[in-house]
Amino acid sequence: MSADVAEKHFDKGLANTIAAESSMSYIDGVNGILEYVGIDIDQLARNSTFEETTFLLWNGRLPNQAELDELNAALRAEYTLPSGIIDLIKTFPADAAPMHALQTAVAALALHDPEADVNDPEANIRKAIRLVAKTPAVVAAFDRHRSGKDIVDPDPSMDIASNFLWMLNGEKPTETMARALDVCLILHADHGTNASTFTSLVIIATLSDLYSSMAGAIGALRGPLHGGANEGVMRMLEEIGDIESIDAAMQKKFDNKEKIMGFGHRVYKAYDPRATYLKTFARGLAEDTGNMNLYEMSSRIEEIMNEAVAAKGIFPNVDFYSATTYWSLGLKLDLFTPMFAIARMSGWTGHCIEQLADNKLIRPGSSYIGPHEMPYVPMSER
Ligand code: SDX
Repeated sequence: MSADVAEKHFDKGLANTIAAESSMSYIDGVNGILEYVGIDIDQLARNSTFEETTFLLWNGRLPNQAELDELNAALRAEYTLPSGIIDLIKTFPADAAPMHALQTAVAALALHDPEADVNDPEANIRKAIRLVAKTPAVVAAFDRHRSGKDIVDPDPSMDIASNFLWMLNGEKPTETMARALDVCLILHADHGTNASTFTSLVIIATLSDLYSSMAGAIGALRGPLHGGANEGVMRMLEEIGDIESIDAAMQKKFDNKEKIMGFGHRVYKAYDPRATYLKTFARGLAEDTGNMNLYEMSSRIEEIMNEAVAAKGIFPNVDFYSATTYWSLGLKLDLFTPMFAIARMSGWTGHCIEQLADNKLIRPGSSYIGPHEMPYVPMSER
């Protein structure tokens, strides 16, 4: 092993490496605690809004009323997509993956932002506002386009959650539905240096730009080991079909050593506190919308997993009950991960701005395990 690597250690998956300092999210994986800037996630889910939580994550404190009104106004002023982005979305194939559509359109937003490459904090907060405000419109516009429906203009009289459901469905959501989605956005807004946030940090740390960083983060979130798991949970529930089939189906998955979507976590070795909240939420929404079969199936799966792997520290994570919640909210299955991206846009942008305030290029070493002193063999001799 060469000298420059000798003093370093190989940490596969960086599972035991601290790669950043942050004052945004505190995660206690042993006791199942999540705080945003010191405030317990349960308190925020009960009392806050996604917009207020976004202010908290970006500014390190709760806003006063004037500050919250100012942020709400700034976000709503940015709901509308540039016409060029609408035209671009209309060129996307109807069978394109929504996360590919989202990643493409978010990257393309840079082409319409004269400040795209300005990296001072003020410009980045303005871009963060544009990104948080416009991501819902991208997701809704693509879904309307692929469904052969007219794209619905945003309504600046509504908050982000209500406006998203308005643009998606073309009708005003009920208070219950809007509040449920708002709470989901709060629960998904930030979570330390998870894979997609870390991706965004690697990109911004090169002094690239916020749009490039967000496009990278969306790519990382898409994976089924990360944000794609909520879609994977729904597909698993659909594949199993009914509660009578669960026990045999789960045994087969165990026999095949399959990873069960919505369970396990790199940090939580206890119940994910977001899952605690989402489980209660899922039940209420499932009851209201005739989806109790999904909730009951999920509960049975949780019982089986509890018996099988709880001792290994494998519990439901944020994605397990968000699947039933999103389905009950009427979201299509392949819009679950885009929903995650809409929420995490506030965390991703906040972490990038935090990184730039005390930046250092992120470039870990690698331990070379290939051959040395190999000859160049001419083609005629190969
Ligand atoms: C998110 O990091 C974050 O903060 C992410 C997130 C956020 O808010 O940003 O919380 C959101 O991504 C939640 C996680 C969503 N992913 C899934 O639900 C996919 C299923 N989960 C697993 O793939 C897994 O639990 C990971 C990827 C989430 C974490 O895996 P690790 O830390 O790399 O651990 P591992 O895969 O090495 O597993 C350790 C052991 C293994 O058993 P052994 O080989 O030691 O016997 O636990 C087992 C694994 O087989 N295991 C599972 C399992 N998860 C881990 N076994 C069955 N089903 C599972 N889901």
